Amino acid sequence: MGFKSDVVVVGGCGHVGLPLAIVLASKSLQVCAFDLNNTAVTSVNSGKMPFDEPGASELLKQVLISKKFSASSDKKVISSAEHVIFVIGTPVDEHLNPDPDAVPNVVRDLLDVLVDGQHLVLRSTVYPGVTRLVERVISDSGKRVDVSFCPERIAEGKAIEELTSLPQIISARTTGALTRAKDLFGNLTDNLISVSPEEAELAKLFTNTWRYIKFAAANQLYTIANDFGVDFERVRNAITKDYPRAADMPGAGFAAGPCLFKDTMQLAAFNNNNFTLGHSSMMINEGLPLYLVSRIEKNYDLSKMTVGVLGMAFKAESDDIRSSLSYKLKRILKFKANLVLCADSLVNDDDSLVSEDELIERSDLIVIGAPHYRYSIVSIKTPVIDIWNIRKQGVLI
Ligand SMILES: NC(=O)c1ccc[n+]([C@@H]2O[C@H](COP(=O)([O-])OP(=O)(O)OC[C@H]3O[C@@H](n4cnc5c(N)ncnc54)[C@H](O)[C@@H]3O)[C@@H](O)[C@H]2O)c1
Repeated sequence: MGFKSDVVVVGGCGHVGLPLAIVLASKSLQVCAFDLNNTAVTSVNSGKMPFDEPGASELLKQVLISKKFSASSDKKVISSAEHVIFVIGTPVDEHLNPDPDAVPNVVRDLLDVLVDGQHLVLRSTVYPGVTRLVERVISDSGKRVDVSFCPERIAEGKAIEELTSLPQIISARTTGALTRAKDLFGNLTDNLISVSPEEAELAKLFTNTWRYIKFAAANQLYTIANDFGVDFERVRNAITKDYPRAADMPGAGFAAGPCLFKDTMQLAAFNNNNFTLGHSSMMINEGLPLYLVSRIEKNYDLSKMTVGVLGMAFKAESDDIRSSLSYKLKRILKFKANLVLCADSLVNDDDSLVSEDELIERSDLIVIGAPHYRYSIVSIKTPVIDIWNIRKQGVLI
């Protein structure tokens, strides 16, 4: 079957879809990013990344010039490609419920533009069993479309490098679909790991959950040390120095962002909400801003103070504020302090932020919300609460 192009990425202007689309285009595949977000589509077609991702801007310009890549919000583009990769968002709702129908519903909506002979790749992080549901949507439609599930494991900020350096987990129910997944992802790496769809679904959720639990363990050890009047960073240094068995112990910090928390909650829901470690991790990680404020209150009368939150992104060197715990910290502080100022010069989509200079000038106390490198060297005269220890002043509060 001849197709005009190689790949269409559905959700192709998002944090995962766009890096994948332009890296595949840089490997000489003909790629189109299909996305409902018209503003992002226009921005991408004009050569401007809608968000910050190191190395992506240059690559985007390159693949636009070579005409290997374009973006569109017209779903008809989907019919022209051999491989259709779905990377739409899969959030949990405000009650922490995942929506197993989110991806199947989008596939159902696009059935009229899917054509016989295509290969449909699921790449979103999904609730276990979703690949089976999508296979059913396809078989009920009578279309002859192969289905595979090949989860994305990049971290934002490292996407361009990691797309070709990480192994790719690929899975499909039929040999035909698996061969096509191998051919497609073989453009990124020779390091392919083939498993069943159910194994791949769990592999992706376990990857993020594992990380979330590790951060929670470190955060709880931090609170134990801190309540005992001991600086956790000194303890961690003692543990990890020249001692490989504990070398991966993370420091304290906000474990936030659009993936780790929601994927731990997807797994909890999948396991009938019987996931003690996952739920405990949520309480520890999501509770850290509350813990910090309660400790700060022991030393400061916040009601008379202007408190600055420096860094609003969910992690260092990022412009992404999705599910950032800095916003939870801001909300708690607003109850307690006379005034709260927030700043982050990397963040572009929050009009309430003041400049970093203004925040540093006007605040009586500053809490580091995201450990951007610049905050480790900027001169600050007022006291700074820095549980990340980027300023090397210790983490005891
Ligand atoms: N962000 C990460 O670091 C990361 C890493 C690995 C995996 N993931 C997973 O990848 C998936 C996407 O995450 P993201 O961070 O890129 O989300 P995102 O919100 O940045 O991107 C999703 C894109 O899909 C578009 N979209 C939504 N519905 C659509 C539809 N029906 N048709 C076409 N486009 C549509 C949106 O406009 C958006 O541009 C999620 O399942 C997430 O868990 C994310």
